[in-house]
Amino acid sequence: MKTQLRHLIDDDVASLTAAANDRAISPSLRNGFPTPYTQSHAEYFITVASRKASDLVLAIIDSSTPTTILGIISLLRSKPADPTVLELGYWLNPRYWNQGIITRSIDQILHFKSPIIPTMFRAEALVSVTNIGSSKALIKNNFKRDALLRNHNEKDGERRSDCHLYSKTIDQNSPPDTAFVRGNFVHSKENGELEILMDHLMEIDLLSGCIVTFEPADVSTFSSLHYLYKSPTSSDFITPGFIDCHVHAPQYSFAGTATDRPLMGKEGWLESYTFPSERRLSDQNLATKTYSKVVKRLLREGTTTACYLATIHLNSSLILADQCEKFNQRALIGKVNMDQNSPPDYIETTEESLANTETFIKQIQGRDSFKNGNIFPVITPRFIPTCSKALLSGLGRLAKKYDTRVQSHISESVDEVAFVKSLGYEETDAEIFQNYGLLKNSIQAHGVWCSKDDLGLMKENNAGIACCPLSNVYFASGILDLNICEEVGVNVGLGTDVSGGYSPSMLNSQRTAVVTSRVSNFSKEKESIDYKKAFFLATLGSARTLHLEHLVGNFVIGKRFDAVCWSVEGGGGGVDVFDGDTPEDIVQKILTNGGREDIARVFVNGKDC
Ligand code: GUN
Ligand code: FE
Repeated sequence: MKTQLRHLIDDDVASLTAAANDRAISPSLRNGFPTPYTQSHAEYFITVASRKASDLVLAIIDSSTPTTILGIISLLRSKPADPTVLELGYWLNPRYWNQGIITRSIDQILHFKSPIIPTMFRAEALVSVTNIGSSKALIKNNFKRDALLRNHNEKDGERRSDCHLYSKTIDQNSPPDTAFVRGNFVHSKENGELEILMDHLMEIDLLSGCIVTFEPADVSTFSSLHYLYKSPTSSDFITPGFIDCHVHAPQYSFAGTATDRPLMGKEGWLESYTFPSERRLSDQNLATKTYSKVVKRLLREGTTTACYLATIHLNSSLILADQCEKFNQRALIGKVNMDQNSPPDYIETTEESLANTETFIKQIQGRDSFKNGNIFPVITPRFIPTCSKALLSGLGRLAKKYDTRVQSHISESVDEVAFVKSLGYEETDAEIFQNYGLLKNSIQAHGVWCSKDDLGLMKENNAGIACCPLSNVYFASGILDLNICEEVGVNVGLGTDVSGGYSPSMLNSQRTAVVTSRVSNFSKEKESIDYKKAFFLATLGSARTLHLEHLVGNFVIGKRFDAVCWSVEGGGGGVDVFDGDTPEDIVQKILTNGGREDIARVFVNGKDC
């Protein structure tokens, strides 16, 4: 084995390094790789060092210092079949490595297992002795250190750092690391457009939950595959999971009630129902009960990612993260901040608010679920009225220090805008957030009363709007003008705003978005949104708004498999299918008349929820 590697190094390292230097990928490879591989990546560069009859060698090269070879994977196949570089490419997709650190990429690569390599093979990695992170990752993955290769590339006169050789034998007969989903898929790639892909086969890496391959089903391969899910009939469809951009987890306990008040004021909705109800969640048992219910409910309704607001309590907010991990929901979670204009028994000091927020962020960012892209912290000034200037500026500093997302409510209703003015501000909500460093990368609920300039400022700051059509009807005295948002180019996603919005269903949110858009455009010449646009907003639009487009939102290779499997056959739910219904008719029926009874399965990260 050592001889084999020496041979490989002597023969190939020089050419490999040269290839890295001019960043050339051989034309055949370039053609073979799907789009992501043809781009030059910020941090890593992949090339093929050797494609002999008996082996396939891939090197991972740090593109910032292209002469540093971080690792070589040599796949010595027991059967000399033509290596399908394309499939290997999927496994080496840098999009997997979304955290951008080499230990993670090595980790991912070491779990490489593909049906194209028939039985046993040996995986090798050559790692610079100074690359401690990669060495640790290898050892964690049961690689053994075989040899120290000193100054291995003396030929060209340049000294390179010494390397360790690690290796391990991988048995393809051990339980599979990938599984398949077969069915009719529907997703959006652009605003307002549905792509319907009938009878397709998708391969999913069970470890990462990433989509590995996705193509029309080929009858010859069916029987031998390990399936995660197979659509029972041709009238069933698989959509990306819905992404709720704005939902108050503690308020789920009174969803469907308390619909009789305006937002603000002594007798208003916040003071009468919301603050007392949120305050009770200082009780951690109650928080556990409430949060397990809301997470399970949202998953049942097909929401695979939620951007949650919790309460002001640190420990209960962490419990919400625990529940999302437990029930396998992807989530952005914010501990709410309020240090003024709040009831005496539901308020924090500025110092407490900042200290607990920092602890919350550090706690979440330390979790594996954060590193895996499942759970994220969000800085959450409730809205401008409840946050002092000292708090806003402290939160702006934390957002910068920890590079986190921010969420809040922005120009939500006429009474909220008036309240902000009464506090002495001359700026709009968007300008205030901007002044305190809280607009950048933020997710802002409502925005019904944002001016076109405000929307432009949001776009400049990569901020997006969580449009909450149902609660807008109750609180905003208006609806968000999606035409203007589109014109300005600001990202928009959909939210339920439970419980200002009474329904936890993102289907309801989509339908309300369509209905309110139509009503608001009755007397105008403007175009209203239809079910396709609403579906886009609830999936890819929301993914963009939450800055999660690299992970979710549609079915693209390298993204996670977060999906809802709809099964309408038999009419037990809200949809009846008739002869002559086209695939698009059925999809429209599901999105317009379907409900939770039509959901057969929900997946997050390739795992059943
Ligand atoms: N504005 C400030 N807090 C809230 C809330 O909890 N719900 C809604 N809809 N608007 C808010
Ligand atoms: Fe809200």
